[in-house]
Amino acid sequence: MILTNPKMSASDFNKLSNFIYDEYGIKLTPVKKTMLESRLQKRLTALQIDSYKEYCDLVFSTQGKQQELIHMIDLVTTNKTDFFREPAHFDFLTTQILPEFINSNPNKQLKVWSAGCSSGEEPYTLAMVLNEYAVNTQPFNYTITATDLSTQVLNKAITAVYSEERIAGIPLQLKRKYFLKSKDPQKKTVRVIPQLRNKVNISRLNFIDEVLNISADFDIIFCRNVIIYFDKNTQEKVINKLCEKLKPGGFFFLGHSESITNMRVPLEQLKPTVFQKL
Ligand SMILES: C[S@@+](CC[C@H](N)C(=O)[O-])C[C@H]1O[C@@H](n2cnc3c(N)ncnc32)[C@H](O)[C@@H]1O
Repeated sequence: MILTNPKMSASDFNKLSNFIYDEYGIKLTPVKKTMLESRLQKRLTALQIDSYKEYCDLVFSTQGKQQELIHMIDLVTTNKTDFFREPAHFDFLTTQILPEFINSNPNKQLKVWSAGCSSGEEPYTLAMVLNEYAVNTQPFNYTITATDLSTQVLNKAITAVYSEERIAGIPLQLKRKYFLKSKDPQKKTVRVIPQLRNKVNISRLNFIDEVLNISADFDIIFCRNVIIYFDKNTQEKVINKLCEKLKPGGFFFLGHSESITNMRVPLEQLKPTVFQKL
């Protein structure tokens, strides 16, 4: 469909970007206007709407709030992820955290939260790493909670079907052990095995919600490459909220380009992006 007005007005951009910031924390500065237009274009086509003004009216209508926001969030969020992304974090987990945790809490369950899990690559990497450690080094119990704002990526995480290309970088021995090939060879997809899927509890959660409806006794939180989309003030608020869900002495991981510099948060830095709750 050709849009009658292919540009979004400054006032519609302001309305949408203010709403997205207030509700989801994602900061869209005016330079992101073209990006927002191109991401929403698909939605306008699907709805057979031919201007951003009409789309904006829909989003702010009662019906739009109930039915459209969920789709808008899917387009507004950036969900880039990978298996074994930033691998040094998984090495830190197996060499520094697990030996100490298992020795001092032999019968306890390790609780890990992948906060902003996107389509599941991060929590399933954690599940593989923890399972390998339990089988090969020292047995222990663990659970992984995985949450995200976007329902589209959460559905992908629940289905746990990935293209063969996406798992190409995973060591062969782990690929063979933790993924099943599709029965249809044309598809070139794999699925995470049920034993690993069962270890990951997936649900929707918005970090900007007043109260985070999630348990408060995590040993480890991975919140990587999420706060990069927030401004400094929101980053600090979100990290403090997540820290309330972390046990004292628990570990907090950020993405490689994120930091807590000049923030009042109850974390001590162990490595550039690894922290421990005070
Ligand atoms: C770039 S992905 C990072 C995925 C994974 N942690 C990694 O490092 O590969 C960022 C994720 O944060 C989620 N996100 C953005 N704003 C959020 C919010 N307010 N609450 C919860 N999740 C949010 C997005 O939907 C997206 O899937």
